[in-house]
Amino acid sequence: MPGRYEEAYSRSIEDPSGFWSEAAAGIDWHRKWDQVLDSSNPPFYRWFKGAELNTCYNALDRHADGGRGDQKALIYDSPVTGQIKSFTYTELRERVARCAGGLKTLGVEKGDLVLIYMPMIPEAVISMLACARIGAVHSVVFGGFAARELATRINDARPVCVITASCGIEPGRIVEYKPLLDAAIELADHKPRVCVMVQRAMAEAPMIEGRDIDWDEVMTSAQPTDCVPVAATDPLYILYTSGTTGLPKGVVRDNGGHAVALKWSMKNVYGIDPGEVYWAASDIGWVVGHSYIVYAPLFHGCTTILFEGKPVGTPDAGAFWRVISQHQVTALFTAPTAFRAIKQQDPNGEHIKKYALDGFRTLFLAGERADPDTVKWAEHHLRVPVIDHWWQTETGWAIGANCIGLGMLPVKYGSATKAVPGFDVHVLDKNRRPVKPGKIGTIVIKLPLPPGCLPSLWNNDEGFKQSYLSDFPGYYLTADAGYIDEDGYIFVMSRTDDIINVAGHRLSTGAMEEVLAGHPDVAECAVIGVAEKVKGQVPLGFVVLTAGVERADDDIVKELVAMVREQIGPVAAFTSAVVVKRLPKTRSGKILRGTMCKIADGEEYRVPATIDDPAVLDEIGAALQGIGHAGAG
Ligand code: COA
Ligand code: AMP
Repeated sequence: MPGRYEEAYSRSIEDPSGFWSEAAAGIDWHRKWDQVLDSSNPPFYRWFKGAELNTCYNALDRHADGGRGDQKALIYDSPVTGQIKSFTYTELRERVARCAGGLKTLGVEKGDLVLIYMPMIPEAVISMLACARIGAVHSVVFGGFAARELATRINDARPVCVITASCGIEPGRIVEYKPLLDAAIELADHKPRVCVMVQRAMAEAPMIEGRDIDWDEVMTSAQPTDCVPVAATDPLYILYTSGTTGLPKGVVRDNGGHAVALKWSMKNVYGIDPGEVYWAASDIGWVVGHSYIVYAPLFHGCTTILFEGKPVGTPDAGAFWRVISQHQVTALFTAPTAFRAIKQQDPNGEHIKKYALDGFRTLFLAGERADPDTVKWAEHHLRVPVIDHWWQTETGWAIGANCIGLGMLPVKYGSATKAVPGFDVHVLDKNRRPVKPGKIGTIVIKLPLPPGCLPSLWNNDEGFKQSYLSDFPGYYLTADAGYIDEDGYIFVMSRTDDIINVAGHRLSTGAMEEVLAGHPDVAECAVIGVAEKVKGQVPLGFVVLTAGVERADDDIVKELVAMVREQIGPVAAFTSAVVVKRLPKTRSGKILRGTMCKIADGEEYRVPATIDDPAVLDEIGAALQGIGHAGAG
């Protein structure tokens, strides 16, 4: 007899409109849809055409007015500032409504774009929801990106307003945001009209007269404003993510499909009930932060946690257990890298034993492949199910998971379990033919994608088609390679493009190569991701110098490291590069990055038949040993 998961999955594929119109009952609509799925313009699909709703209303007002007014909506826990502050649904709604009113006074209108460049403080969440309240589109940029990356996003998104804070706090240093923002606006062609500044006591930022305005001033003078109905198909936000070049892709999220999918996922994927405390230990700058710090838990009437700290060092490897026990967290969602960092500092789980974790039910991991050692360590020490699930910025929620709310399936280590209802996942070969179970190929999703996934890229339908829909017509290309076994379990093994995953952060090696190529002494370069114990992967650069350059290699490498930090940001974790005489290439001139990765990781490799000169591979190995690269074999 099929279980609840199998039943839900089959129904979602055979009758997507029926399935998602039932799920849509979880959302309050201003106007019902004319059509659940509009497939009139393939490969573009739209969910809930004709419907109107407000995302902020569904996240706050209906709970504040519907019996949860005194329940905590948001707990801000900040070990880096020593603060814990909570907001009930009524309080959060009041602040969001006021902020929304303030934005209107500043001239922000429905459909306008607001860029949010902020650390993990309540004002960031309030700003996002305030935009949603008035139908403005937000674009949050992660604080670890440098001015140039911010400038690229400003140019593409063209915000009328930027909301920022004077600083972020990283263990051991204060990151001043204002100089980065000013530099980005200087670099960008587009100039936002107004910048709202949250002044934090650790570093007050100087203001630019006529452009910058203090957050407190905006909030005190503002009148609270109501939710504005928007079309289900209107954009709620844009989130930029690494593509294969230096230009990030603006992933668009709509209002209606997003609300339906995320609300549905809370019970069915995560097994959470309204009123429970749910914690995604991520950053609002990433998709996990958008979906599972801000929107989904609030749609579901949960209490969400905004944690301004790290898994280790704030103050120790027990930070997660302290938060779970202090706030009665039922489920934690984080990246495997966080657990590797904890495991490294507390291999026997001594910190775990100090806290009462009785109410803690499930650990969810995503963002990178969950290595079986880490999963088993967490299972052993926490004694709760550890669920690896697979998703992307583009999809906005899980593609593959063990949907615990639909009945937990047996765990297979190394697998993200099965396709989540709504996602018709296949593995194809280069000739677009299905591969046999257990055989590796390209993972694709048959169109249409379920609600919540990107309808397109921001102002770039062509780019959307080219990047995701053209290689395998009728399917969405995930750019992940992997296999599905005989039981339907999905194993995601690697990317098929030049994206690497550094401490759960998605980065483009192509973008780093563009930076290195900008150094006057560099003739040619390649950046690859190499295995690293805690972060999973870190970038490593290879550079060939211009003929005649006689400066010391070490000096040039230092400059390259500084350039990547300055132009992409510290989050790239680009700390080493090696100078080589030449790069291994095919006879047609393509750099053999895959083979370089294997050499750098000390793995066995086959000399590619197409290689121009096999001797270069030995030179690469020797150069890596020369810089003491441990994996080089
Ligand atoms: N603003 C400014 N700088 C930031 C930043 C931010 N929001 N976030 C990170 N950085 C900086 C860090 O200070 C660090 O700088 P440094 O080179 O001067 O030390 C650099 O970017 C790299 O940061 P990070 O990747 O966080 O590495 P780390 O060594 O400081 O910490 C982990 C390692 C594993 C503890 C940390 O990466 C982590 O918690 N990862 C989980 C990621 C995650 O939640 N991903 C979301 C998917 S669920
Ligand atoms: P991001 O868009 O930052 O969420 O990164 C998405 C990419 O991270 C995916 O395309 C995968 O390569 C990788 N990823 C995310 N979750 C998993 C997982 N559970 N298992 C394997 N890879 C994952």
